[in-house]
Amino acid sequence: MYSEKVMDHFRNPRNMGEIPDADGIGSVGNPTCGDLMNIYIKVKDNVLIDVKFKTFGCGAAIATSSMTTELAKGKTLDEAMKITRGDVAESLNGLPKIKMHCSNLAADGLHAAIKDYLKKKEE
Ligand code: FES
Repeated sequence: MYSEKVMDHFRNPRNMGEIPDADGIGSVGNPTCGDLMNIYIKVKDNVLIDVKFKTFGCGAAIATSSMTTELAKGKTLDEAMKITRGDVAESLNGLPKIKMHCSNLAADGLHAAIKDYLKKKEE
């Protein structure tokens, strides 16, 4: 079963939506279920000052995305790159084993958005 924290983030997702002038966008798909995730980031002085998400995923994907944006906000890019799906699941007081793959979407999307930002910065 889902923890209270998962249910809370599912019912009241934090940071849901788009950042129209995002500095980086990560778009990833989940090979296990085919669901999709977009993560948008805003960066200032190497710190994530804003993080938002949009997902076409299940309830666990919504809750893990919501938690990921909370974990990532205010972190440096290096620190955010180290956020794992395990960290996200742990912060939600666990996920059912069968739903662990859902937390890949958010963590992978965040990392992809940071890589997108770094690539754009180089160009
Ligand atoms: Fe697809 Fe959860 S079942 S992200």
